[in-house]
Amino acid sequence: MDIDASAAHHASERRGLLVAFEGIDGAGKSTQAKLLAEWLGSKGFPVSVFHEPTPGPVGLEIRRLAKAGRDELTPRREFELFLEDRAWDVRERIGPALARGEVVLMDRYYISSMAYQGALGLDPAEILRANEAIAPRPDLVLVFTLPVDVALERVCSRHASGQDLFEKRESLVRVREIFDGLEGSHFRHIDAEAPLDAITERVRAEVEPMLARVMAAG
Ligand code: TYD
Repeated sequence: MDIDASAAHHASERRGLLVAFEGIDGAGKSTQAKLLAEWLGSKGFPVSVFHEPTPGPVGLEIRRLAKAGRDELTPRREFELFLEDRAWDVRERIGPALARGEVVLMDRYYISSMAYQGALGLDPAEILRANEAIAPRPDLVLVFTLPVDVALERVCSRHASGQDLFEKRESLVRVREIFDGLEGSHFRHIDAEAPLDAITERVRAEVEPMLARVMAAG
């Protein structure tokens, strides 16, 4: 597959704005995506929020397998499933929304594949290449960062203990390291331990200058 030609093809079709919210579980990205969507909506911008894994057929299969325990899956198979789910997302939701000129907020996108499947031993650069061949590059990636122990307190206080928690911690440390090491002109690392309002302000400040290319209603 010709990756460069494919990426250029996506780029040339682009209108709208694509923003990815990323980070380890418990970093607050879903909350921030929702708050930004409300703010954009109140200003008359057309906006969609999409979560991955998706509610499409492969996304549902991923959730089913996750419940059953990921032991059944090799890292490569897991990577392939997320890639297939993302192809569905691009075809069914992201592509059409961008073509309509919307602001598309991704609550997880392929940067999660780089971090989570990278933490399982796959090469993040290979994951990036495979994804950029099928999915548009985000205009902005907001990576919410916080210490793994704080994240675990936020998400695991209700369940998981002993070995479970230990295994989850080990793997999340690797996931966080990959997220934190990612750089690029379109990457912003945001301290997820800051007060909620301060984070919301920062997110708006990052997105606002990029809105010039999106048409607001009225
Ligand atoms: P979900 O229950 O939706 O969690 P969250 O609310 O934190 O997004 O499950 C998403 C899980 O799937 C999460 O642990 C990260 C993982 N994931 C990957 O491993 N690779 C990917 O490409 C994506 C999008 C998610």
